[in-house]
Amino acid sequence: MQFSQTHLLGIEPLSPVEITEVLDLAEQYVDLNQSERKHADALTGLTQINMFFENSTRTQASFELAGKRLGADVMNMAMQVSSLKKGETLIDTALTLNAMHPDLLVVRHPHSGAVDLLAQKVNCSVLNAGDGRHEHPTQALLDALTIRRAKGRLYRLSIAICGDIAHSRVARSNILLLQKMENRVRLIGPPTLMPAGIADFGVEVFDDMAEGLRDVDVVMMLRLQRERMDGGFIPSEREYYFRYGLDAEKLSFAKPDAIVMHPGPMNRGVEIDGEIADDINRSVIQDQVEMGVAVRMAVMDLLARGLRARRREAGKGVMA
Ligand code: NCD
Repeated sequence: MQFSQTHLLGIEPLSPVEITEVLDLAEQYVDLNQSERKHADALTGLTQINMFFENSTRTQASFELAGKRLGADVMNMAMQVSSLKKGETLIDTALTLNAMHPDLLVVRHPHSGAVDLLAQKVNCSVLNAGDGRHEHPTQALLDALTIRRAKGRLYRLSIAICGDIAHSRVARSNILLLQKMENRVRLIGPPTLMPAGIADFGVEVFDDMAEGLRDVDVVMMLRLQRERMDGGFIPSEREYYFRYGLDAEKLSFAKPDAIVMHPGPMNRGVEIDGEIADDINRSVIQDQVEMGVAVRMAVMDLLARGLRARRREAGKGVMA
């Protein structure tokens, strides 16, 4: 086993070999999930707690299902935070939960870096389910698996990530992963939605969709993240759709077999045309959701193996 992480806090610390190991194991879980008995025992006896300090439907459901299919005891905590006390609440909650001996803690938090901080306070494996605009590693891994299955490889592809890059942890984790695997990454969006210092990322930047989409293999659309904007970033949603919304005309600049992705939730008619999103010949958006469960099963399985090995070494013999 090459995967040597204690936590999954981001894509940044992962090696290409570790990424490939996650994806290869996830392939096995894709098969399991398509079979009738969707049960394995990789997490039997372990406790998984999901702490979502931000609203989530698909990510939380996906982690919950992944844990249950692997036999863990899964608990969802609905976290309500007063915006003033976020930091304090986070650490207090972490210590309280730690006393219940969880093995896997899945955390989503509106502040970048909050999940790293929490990981330092607990003695279980922590999985980042999205922290502010920082990272969303399981999203990048499920996107990678979706691309690898659709394109037959995950290297030397030309991939355009389009829209609200500045506020997107999905974009950040994807840029890191796709570059580690030696793909060419293009970012397309209005200059107001590009993060500062983007030139240092080693990506090509475009503010015109026709130009940026030329001959790409993959078109990854992002949600316009209004909750992270204090106004003034775009003139209007209509204008945004006209310039940056993915429709058939703009998609025609990409390769004829280019696939279309979106992490969800989608704003139809804002960043993507509903018909493109539903076109089963181009859109792999439903595959992304399916791969999400398998990738989360793979990551939790690998983390649990490490956890058990470390506990054995520490002589605690907590688990078989
Ligand atoms: C993304 C997220 O929360 O960062 N969604 C997701 O995980 N399914 C993207 C988004 O919210 O736009």
